[in-house]
Amino acid sequence: MGFAVNVRQFDEPLDVEMGDTILQTALNAGLQYPHGCQSGNCGACKSRLHSGEVEMSPYSEFALTDAEKESGLILACRSVPWSDCEVAYLEQDEVVAHPLRKLTCTVRELDRMTHDIVRVRLSVEAGGPFDFTAGQYVEVSFDGLPPRDYSMANRPSSETLEFHIRHIPDGAVSAYANTNLKVGDTVHVDGPHGISYYRAKHTGPIVALAGGSGLAPIKSIIEEALGEGAEQPIHMYFGVRDEHDLYLEDHFQALAARHANLSFTPVLSEPSGTTARRTGYLADVIAADFAGLDGSKVYLAGPPIMVETCVEQVRQRGAGDEDCHADAFYTEADKAKLEAAS
Ligand SMILES: Cc1cc2nc3c(=O)[nH]c(=O)nc-3n(C[C@H](O)[C@H](O)[C@H](O)COP(=O)(O)OP(=O)(O)OC[C@H]3O[C@@H](n4cnc5c(N)ncnc54)[C@H](O)[C@@H]3O)c2cc1C
Ligand code: FES
Repeated sequence: MGFAVNVRQFDEPLDVEMGDTILQTALNAGLQYPHGCQSGNCGACKSRLHSGEVEMSPYSEFALTDAEKESGLILACRSVPWSDCEVAYLEQDEVVAHPLRKLTCTVRELDRMTHDIVRVRLSVEAGGPFDFTAGQYVEVSFDGLPPRDYSMANRPSSETLEFHIRHIPDGAVSAYANTNLKVGDTVHVDGPHGISYYRAKHTGPIVALAGGSGLAPIKSIIEEALGEGAEQPIHMYFGVRDEHDLYLEDHFQALAARHANLSFTPVLSEPSGTTARRTGYLADVIAADFAGLDGSKVYLAGPPIMVETCVEQVRQRGAGDEDCHADAFYTEADKAKLEAAS
């Protein structure tokens, strides 16, 4: 016994079994329902409940604010129907729909970027052609380990897929990638996913905020924008703890030297010595540098705390919800916290 859920964008209603979520039922049926974390953290599956009743298991305030909930929005990944329902997922301002692929890849290059970030370059051997929009991510599986989400750092037109993987203390997959992975290994990649991608039609200013390995999708977005001839001001900030966490600085300085519309600002939050660089938390640096962000597109990626505080800050400075495109790098620990609250 289940409930019929009419998703306005789909031709046929979903038959959602008792206790199942709307998102899981749609994905099991092979339908493209916008989603990210599938655990109530990112907000990518935000939908409007037009009629009927759902029960939502715990989610983060970042994914759905109380005001949004009161206005009738739900998270499809946390919503279990209690009656027949009618819902519609929120449409993106520039829709992209790439076929979901299951790729078999080979590790071509491994480069140490910092003491805890490895750059992994993969060639696609089977399952392609693979297409994505700059800023998206895939599920990557190494050698029988559980899949994890990693964002492409390359432009979509590149021959190889590039990832920046930060070693998380006690992390199963990131530790493997940083210590055991070898050139020639086979890697499985599923995707692309994600809605925090580059909006090519937007011609207003761009603010791009990367924290740590959050540089990966921001690099892809910036390179794509410049490669496609974007002429608007692009303000890029790269936040890390200390000097030894910075990487690809020469690359971005060279890009900024070639493109007068790009500014690149590294920011240290916990410098161990005196420094001529900008210091502090990215959210405070943004507050100091921008009086208003109305009309700007803001792209953010990196640790959840950095992304959440920066999103709050840019919203306070007038950036519209529809203009904030954020990927917080939630881990299993963050997901477990929400599950424990269920
Ligand atoms: C959309 C998206 C894009 C991402 N892109 C990138 C990227 O480009 N680069 C990057 O470096 N990272 C990225 N991440 C993060 C990445 O997906 C992984 O979460 C990260 O690499 C850690 O994985 P792990 O297997 O090493 O750690 P995990 O095994 O997931 O462990 C992480 C932490 O959680 C703890 N933990 C594990 N399981 C549990 C549990 N059940 N209960 C409580 N605690 C637990 C561990 O002890 C550890 O401290 C992204 C995440 C998302 C959501
Ligand atoms: S997919 Fe629902 S909140 Fe992330």
